[in-house]
Amino acid sequence: TGASAWTTPSLPHLNLPRLLVSDGPHGIRRVADVHAMTVQSLPATCFPTASSLAASWDVDLLQEMGQALAAEAIAREVDVILGPGANMKRSPLCGRNFEYFSEDPYLAGQMAAALIQGIQSRGVGTSLKHYAANNQEFERFSINAEVDERALREIYLPAFETAVTHAKPWSVMCAYNKINGTYGSEHTYLLTDILKNEWGFEGFVVSDWGAVNERPAGVSAGLHLEMPGNEGLNDAKIVAAVKNGELPEARLDQVVEELLAVILMAHDRKKEGVTFDIDQHHRLARKAGGESIVLLKNEGSLLPLPTDGSKKIAVIGDFARQPRFQGGGSSQVNPSKIDKAYDELDALIEGELTFASAYQRNGETTDQLLAEARSAAQAADIAVVFVGLPAAYESESFDRAHMNLPPAHNQLVETVTAVQPNTVVVLINGSAVSMPWAGQAPAIVEGWLGGQAGGGALADVLAGKVNPSGKLSESFPVRLEDTPTFLTFPGTGGESLYGEGPYIGYRYYDSKHIEPLFPFGHGLSYTTFEYTKIQTDRSKAKDTEQMRVDVTVKNTGKVAGKEVVQLYVSPAEGVFPQPEKALRKFVKVELQPGEQKTVSFELGFRDFANYDPRVHAWQVTTGTHTILAGGSSADLPLRQTIELQATQTIEAPLTRYSMFKELMAHPKGKPYADEIWAAIFRKMAPEPAAEEKDLTPEEKEEREVGAAMMAAFFGDIPLFKMPHVTAGRFSEQRLEKVLEELR
Ligand code: GLC
Repeated sequence: TGASAWTTPSLPHLNLPRLLVSDGPHGIRRVADVHAMTVQSLPATCFPTASSLAASWDVDLLQEMGQALAAEAIAREVDVILGPGANMKRSPLCGRNFEYFSEDPYLAGQMAAALIQGIQSRGVGTSLKHYAANNQEFERFSINAEVDERALREIYLPAFETAVTHAKPWSVMCAYNKINGTYGSEHTYLLTDILKNEWGFEGFVVSDWGAVNERPAGVSAGLHLEMPGNEGLNDAKIVAAVKNGELPEARLDQVVEELLAVILMAHDRKKEGVTFDIDQHHRLARKAGGESIVLLKNEGSLLPLPTDGSKKIAVIGDFARQPRFQGGGSSQVNPSKIDKAYDELDALIEGELTFASAYQRNGETTDQLLAEARSAAQAADIAVVFVGLPAAYESESFDRAHMNLPPAHNQLVETVTAVQPNTVVVLINGSAVSMPWAGQAPAIVEGWLGGQAGGGALADVLAGKVNPSGKLSESFPVRLEDTPTFLTFPGTGGESLYGEGPYIGYRYYDSKHIEPLFPFGHGLSYTTFEYTKIQTDRSKAKDTEQMRVDVTVKNTGKVAGKEVVQLYVSPAEGVFPQPEKALRKFVKVELQPGEQKTVSFELGFRDFANYDPRVHAWQVTTGTHTILAGGSSADLPLRQTIELQATQTIEAPLTRYSMFKELMAHPKGKPYADEIWAAIFRKMAPEPAAEEKDLTPEEKEEREVGAAMMAAFFGDIPLFKMPHVTAGRFSEQRLEKVLEELR
């Protein structure tokens, strides 16, 4: 159990050192007093938040950032960094979406794994969080996330699975909420059956702060460490549970040993004397921000801004001087310095920049401020308007009530675009927002919460020093009503029903044919790319075989640029309805003007498989699967079909509760099905049926429709009812025999 808010006990008599842990995913929030929770932390580099980083789609960058985070952790004597967060962005309204990577589990998993690898490569641990299905802040300490097994396996777990199996985090942090009725802190299925036994996790599970419900149940389920400490309150419960036999001592020993192993390993790997250059980290934060900015729209190539002073440029919006660059709550970092977009633009652009603040920090405005903004826009050749979400709009602990920007921000964009056709809108937000003015703004840039150097990164992109290469890691729907969880989020009466199943984000919009404002994977560049060729090394394969896919992309523009080549798979029609397609691979490539490159991907079983809850296993459907490649989920010019033969299929065993139609469909079921039909008809229609040729057209139709109806009617009857339906002609004993023979 924790000895404080941030440390495990040190036991000198056992020569056991303490572990010191600190938030958070994008910067070290080290507080000097280990017993303090919410005081100002020591200065550290505030990197872009997860939603920004994920838009870079650059695993190498995340690794590099992880190494920098580790260096700062070591300098602050932090042994484990509490992050990354790998929860899915189920709804744009989750207050902590800024701290999560994506609506897509593959992208999120790759990002989380890269960050973990980077951090742990320098002997500092991580705590992958919040396991699992922590997709809202509303009532997070008690809400029950009711998630069907398929959605859990295909959407809410894979990012954790990838990170655990590829990057081996020293720890996983369990979520506050319940999952299907059981608290994350005592969920044996999640903590032991899946995390430990199926994924081979060898680290420790730590509770989110205050997430423990019943401590002995937690030990039994596989929760190693409770944080923060509670001065022995729950230790006494563990002792009592062992004494009264509720908790086997051997289980307690095993859990303690697993925790001690990591603490001792942590101290073996502890690196001393790692130094770092805080200015170099600031430059890295600026580079990371620049890789993550998404150019959403750029009509008439309004961007990049001319830097030779040939155009008068107005910078409008308080965010350009008082930047918002991170989210509220446990991840909040005390930045070592802060870039202001206005100053950084001024440094890059000749001539006079004008400025109008246009609104106050809380997002409200006045007629006076608006008037000043309007005249600044009118007097300029180009207006650059910074709008977004004030701190009070998105944070840990509460969700957003809507997807809108502050009314004053929307009003500002309408006002400026009405007088200035050359308007660039820059967005500062941690998750999707609605843009009622999107049609009036020729250029729109998504700046995210870009960390302490976010202002500099934006200046680099706006002034063309950096060619934007970010791609949306979440869909931007037109309006909240379009989202899959509009009617269910965040739940009522303690229940959050994940009724949309695996259909979140683009999986939903694709399948419902709802066009988002800006789709998942979308992002423009100052150059153009053309996808010229896709090739697979085979046209048919067994599901156990790896296959290679080559994709060729060319820079057809005038400047160098980076492109994220995305590869999706649209699965063959199977037993279960599937989302239209799913992201399976991606790679970011840099291309000089005119240069073309061929990138190769390896696809395997899981890239084509879906989870079958009837047999609790991943299954590939035999048939035609389609591979799609391009630069956005909505722009996939290359496609290639592949014939897949499933060889790993596990037939759902027939039971007395199976339906008659399942017996009819079973490869060996026909003779038994005929036997049941005969027993049914002997009771239903004793006289022999008339010959086909003697039937009138009406009688013929009646027989055909009647047969179809009978098949549907009886097909859905469970087998255990057949002895009753046939008045015993097909007996209970016969049913058991048939099932035994089929098994
Ligand atoms: C918070 C957060 C978690 C954080 C922990 C310690 O409540 O949910 O992400 O790491 O507590 O601050």
